[in-house]
Amino acid sequence: MDGDPRLSTANSHGRGGHLALVVVKLRYAIVRLVYQDISQLTGILSKMTDLIRNFAIVAHIDHGKSTLADRLLEKTGAVKVGSGEQLLDTMDLERERGITIKLNPARLAYAFTGKEYQFNLIDTPGHADFGYEVSRSLAAVEGVILLVDATQGVQAQTISNLEIARQLKLAIVPVVNKIDLPTAQIAETTQEIAQLLNCDEGEIVAVSAKTGAGVDELMAAIIKRIPPPTDQSKDKLQALVFDSFFDQFLGVIAYVKIVSGQLAVGQKLTMLATDRTFSPSQLGAIQLKRLPRTTLKCGEIGYLATGLKTVADCRVGDTVTVAADPGRSLSGYREPLPLVLANIFPEPGEDRLLAVALGKLKLNDASLTYQPTHSQALGMGFTVGCLGLLHLEIVKERLEREYDLTVLVTTPTVEYRFEDQTSFEPWISGEIVSPQAYFGAITQLIDRHRGVFHSVEYLGSRLLCRFQAPLIEIIIDFNDALKSSTAGYGSMDYQFLDYRPVDLVTVDLVINGEKIDALSRPIIKSRAESYGRQTVERLKELIPRQNFEVAVQAAIGGKIIARETVPAVRKDVTAKLYGGDVSRKKKLLEKQKKGKKRLKLFGRVEIPSEVFVDLLKKN
Ligand code: GTP
Repeated sequence: MDGDPRLSTANSHGRGGHLALVVVKLRYAIVRLVYQDISQLTGILSKMTDLIRNFAIVAHIDHGKSTLADRLLEKTGAVKVGSGEQLLDTMDLERERGITIKLNPARLAYAFTGKEYQFNLIDTPGHADFGYEVSRSLAAVEGVILLVDATQGVQAQTISNLEIARQLKLAIVPVVNKIDLPTAQIAETTQEIAQLLNCDEGEIVAVSAKTGAGVDELMAAIIKRIPPPTDQSKDKLQALVFDSFFDQFLGVIAYVKIVSGQLAVGQKLTMLATDRTFSPSQLGAIQLKRLPRTTLKCGEIGYLATGLKTVADCRVGDTVTVAADPGRSLSGYREPLPLVLANIFPEPGEDRLLAVALGKLKLNDASLTYQPTHSQALGMGFTVGCLGLLHLEIVKERLEREYDLTVLVTTPTVEYRFEDQTSFEPWISGEIVSPQAYFGAITQLIDRHRGVFHSVEYLGSRLLCRFQAPLIEIIIDFNDALKSSTAGYGSMDYQFLDYRPVDLVTVDLVINGEKIDALSRPIIKSRAESYGRQTVERLKELIPRQNFEVAVQAAIGGKIIARETVPAVRKDVTAKLYGGDVSRKKKLLEKQKKGKKRLKLFGRVEIPSEVFVDLLKKN
């Protein structure tokens, strides 16, 4: 107390000052006593979150995340044993592909040493396209179960997820899965994980998500090693949105973690990033289905029916707070970056239907962007921006399944940026895990794809290689090339890094002097010539002969870089088949007949739409 500067000032005021000093000392002592009481009280209050454990399961694809989640649901009595199907993956697409696209949290009650714990389990999407969603769902928990398949060992996605968990300073419970399989290499995998985490092998829990072996030990480890959320119940409301989707009855529903304060029915709320204000119609817990409650307390995870009409108003990473007394924005919010672009064309006359369908998809998918485009060859369509190839594929499949449209998706490219006459392209940082024997092949592969090798680490008999590369190189064929250079053993994962300058040129395709807009593409300058040459060669094969010669050219800014000529038609279009195979002749005639149905005229040249479809698809 003597060191308190306020007291030494009082001390310098003589006798009167002495009295004042006594009063101040007394007051200070009282304040200190009261303060001690409050802090003891808050010590008791902090126990309010003590029985909560928020965690996610992170793993490489197919390592058994959803199967383990099902066992946890069974152990806690949330579902009946042996009900078979995976319970957290809800979309049809997910069940068919066996991959997780959407997050589905679950609240579980678990009794342990006489106390009832509340587990909030978040199942995260396991694909690079949804990396930002993974990072936000991990920001909503205090720990992760790092699940590794004992037949596969540590893989690239294990590493990328682990890195996010480390950045967020989460507790990590390492788990070896599939120990029931005869091919399981439990000791090797355990050693690999211990090396990766720099931990004791004894800390690694061995389970079979299939049979349930080891799951009780895992439950105990979750309670002991994952800390409860910090109690900030006295602070202003801050709820982190880690997922949001559109419900036709309730409007946008947000999945939230209450980071501080408390969420209660009747509050007028606001979203800090999008500035939308709303009064929720419902809130509550999620245990496979929504269970309405009157409050969600600090540390809890639950849902909030916002009544908002589009998920763009209630985005992943945003903070919900009380409109009249707002808390601060939680860090980590960013707008989704659609990095992959493709044009989508409907059947003739269906462009209005496509516009409506995209509009509806967008209500539920804030990271999808689209704008109208027109192509001479293919008519009206849309340029669609997606997070990656899987996301694009999901959009295509949903258009076809849910809206009954037949669409053509052109070869995807990336979102280039242009500033002051300089072009920029998106780069990624990536991780490759593979047996050590393929190190040379991997560095060559990175090099061939304009990438930069960064570092290598050894994990048991395998290596972990870090690299950076342009995204366009990754989306074209990197994964296939990796599989073929590593006999199928290599796995890769990546995250968007930044935009870097690129020497880009637009390669145009010109048919008899007329530029075909649908075929113009930005191409890396060093590759432009070979791209141009290959494309004119393909076009020469695809364009049906006319009554006259047709020149097919590739050009950069008016300068011709490649040229082929389609010779004029002969009387018998099948003559070149030398009378050999009759069925082939027939096929060719059929094809030409069919082609006539949708001919497009470029100057005097008639080209069937299928030519463009073919070229744009396979190029
Ligand atoms: P994504 O959601 O696509 O990332 O996959 P996931 O990690 O959720 O894997 P999932 O639970 O779908 O399991 C993949 C496959 O492994 C399924 O066929 C499971 O039945 C099987 N599997 C999971 N755990 C075990 C296990 O402990 N033992 C055995 N034998 N098979 C398992």
